[in-house]
Amino acid sequence: MKANKIRDGVYMLAAAHWERRLFDSLIPLPDGTSYNAYLVEGQEKTALIDTVDPMKADFLMGHLQDVKNIDYIISNHAEQDHSGCIPLMIEKYPDAKVIATPKAKPMLKDLLLIPEEKIIAVEDGETLSLGKRTLRFIHAPWVHWPETMLTYLEEDHILFPCDFLGSHLATSEMFVSDECVVYEAAKRYYAEIMMPFRTAIQKNLEKIKDLNIEIIAPSHGPAHNKPEFILKAYSEWVYGEPKNIAVIPYVSMHGSVKKMVEYLVEALAEKGVSVAPHDLTATDVGRLAMALVDAATVVIGTPAVLAGAHPAAVYAAYLANALRPKTKFISIVGSYSWGSKAIDQISGLLSGLRAEVIPPVFIKGFPKEADYRALDSLAENIAQKHRESNLK
Ligand code: FEO
Repeated sequence: MKANKIRDGVYMLAAAHWERRLFDSLIPLPDGTSYNAYLVEGQEKTALIDTVDPMKADFLMGHLQDVKNIDYIISNHAEQDHSGCIPLMIEKYPDAKVIATPKAKPMLKDLLLIPEEKIIAVEDGETLSLGKRTLRFIHAPWVHWPETMLTYLEEDHILFPCDFLGSHLATSEMFVSDECVVYEAAKRYYAEIMMPFRTAIQKNLEKIKDLNIEIIAPSHGPAHNKPEFILKAYSEWVYGEPKNIAVIPYVSMHGSVKKMVEYLVEALAEKGVSVAPHDLTATDVGRLAMALVDAATVVIGTPAVLAGAHPAAVYAAYLANALRPKTKFISIVGSYSWGSKAIDQISGLLSGLRAEVIPPVFIKGFPKEADYRALDSLAENIAQKHRESNLK
């Protein structure tokens, strides 16, 4: 077996997908990704923790060529990029049992047509001895599906959290070597996948805080042999207050909204607010999602199209609402020629954020002197709200 050895008898089988550029037909992957399975050999039994995306089935089969027996396939998460090769594994190792949470069991049956009798459901905290090695299963719902669990290898102090604490990053390295690169990839991953479940993540971080963890071995991206790096980053993203940042996702058709946004960016910066404008025709949704992690304010910029907001602005508002960032304030800037319901439409789409709405600036045509004054007021309103909230 050609694989990265974490310890004697513990191996990382990381199928790097360097060229993949889109996940779930939605999420951009600028740095590719990897699907990591792990092989754990006890004195009596052998377990495979998660599998890989079926697109990389050959990788897994090749690396397990010399592995005669696998007794357990641990399915931490039923999504197919980790579970998709379980049917192949069952074919290769017909005596293997699949270990999953009670919630995962029907999902594995539905998604992968795995026979029910093959799956053993384990309770929270239940252990499984491999002989001188023990796996403990920790239910961790909503990171990021309802059925997720983490697996802890007790004797080696290794946590296998699947998606949780991972990153979409293809790399030839087993452990994190450049923390800046991984921080960026992990933050992007958190923003796109985990952020909507912030409360569940808090509970799950709480659940593992007293575990002695030497290595965190996720199923995407490199493993962490300095676990405090990723745990600290998650704490900051999950518990930290939003920052003195305004994000402006905008789209412009004939330059009016662009001019408004450029003016607002300068006005906010002059008042001490960090600003991040995102032209929705050029930015990727991952970058926008990342920007939303820390921003206290979101201002959507849109022209009027067909009596409503531009579809790109509608998409950005829908996305921001779905990702549930810590946003405290929202507003809208835009321009119309003969009328628009854009303000009602965008406000409605953002209602799930439960953020305070700062009066929008929606103007007729190209901005004029009075419009610039209105944008000055909007900038002052935002800066004042940030000051009152004592944002750093
Ligand atoms: Fe990496 Fe939720 O699958």
